[in-house]
Amino acid sequence: MLAFVKKHMPESMKDKLRPVVRRVMSPFVAVHDRATLKATFRKAVRGRKLRTSVSDNGYYPLVCYLASKYDSIFADFKRNYVYNHILEVSGEREDYGCHFLKMIDGTPGFELTAEDWRDFQKNDSYGSPRVYPFRICGEDIMLSTSTIRYVKVLGDVVSMFDAGEVRSVAEIGAGYGGQCRIMMSRHSGMSIEQYTLIDLPEVVGLCERYLRNFPECRENIRYVDGGHMYLPDESYDLVMSNYAFSELNRDVQDMYLERIVRRSKRGYMVWNDCSERELNGYSVSEFMSLMPGSSRIEIDYPGTCLIVWGRKNGA
Ligand SMILES: C[S@@+](CC[C@H](N)C(=O)[O-])C[C@H]1O[C@@H](n2cnc3c(N)ncnc32)[C@H](O)[C@@H]1O
Repeated sequence: MLAFVKKHMPESMKDKLRPVVRRVMSPFVAVHDRATLKATFRKAVRGRKLRTSVSDNGYYPLVCYLASKYDSIFADFKRNYVYNHILEVSGEREDYGCHFLKMIDGTPGFELTAEDWRDFQKNDSYGSPRVYPFRICGEDIMLSTSTIRYVKVLGDVVSMFDAGEVRSVAEIGAGYGGQCRIMMSRHSGMSIEQYTLIDLPEVVGLCERYLRNFPECRENIRYVDGGHMYLPDESYDLVMSNYAFSELNRDVQDMYLERIVRRSKRGYMVWNDCSERELNGYSVSEFMSLMPGSSRIEIDYPGTCLIVWGRKNGA
């Protein structure tokens, strides 16, 4: 059948189809580490025995793994259907971007110039995210909603904490590394000496691949597989986790609490109720009772709030 189609298809049509077929097939043809690919596929199909989190569903880690290995998948991983169930959610449209921009505008002590924004915009240069024009500092700047969200988080960090004292950061559930890049950027106004990224192994691979495109992220970043955390006994100036710690199952939350969260002087967590609903994770009040001095800040988004501790005086 295929031979028949090939024989009778006009050459012009074949020329058009060739790049599409090459693109779809490349991860399967150019397999240089077949054993890992096979193992990841097996995991995706059967699912992990222990589901550590809502996103540890087999398919999302597989897409991250493929994006970390193959140019063709990396090229537009931010539009990948499976990936968009977890990140760069297609529902995160322009209106959310405007919403975050308004919040950024009202953040005390966090003034940004058009140059700062053009630098943050570089986040969107990889993975082909959906970008929209936003009127910022008198210019139309194309940005993805997640990049604006990461800048909003940076604004919170700068305004709530003694940002000058934050030298070491640990981020639990770092996605593709977008928040890290914004925090490490020269335009963030922070001077972080060590940024520890913790995620599922496949996702950490994607972070490495993404972040190596940015000179400011080539040093001082430590990539940690959350399943095999061999971290030295040390403390962190700030632990962050956006829509991630609150998506882990309770056993994994306990492990991170002991190894990282309780060892951090300051904390910033965007919290949703996913794990509480699906994986017996901690509720906001349970978590706050474990973290004395923490406070809850409401966010204008259903089922979501912000938990912070170690704020500077009066923030
Ligand atoms: C909804 S995404 C949020 C990503 C990122 N923080 C952001 O705001 O764009 C949840 C993140 O938690 C990560 N995650 C899932 N299971 C994890 C685990 N066991 N340990 C660490 N991170 C995990 C996922 O891979 C994903 O990067």
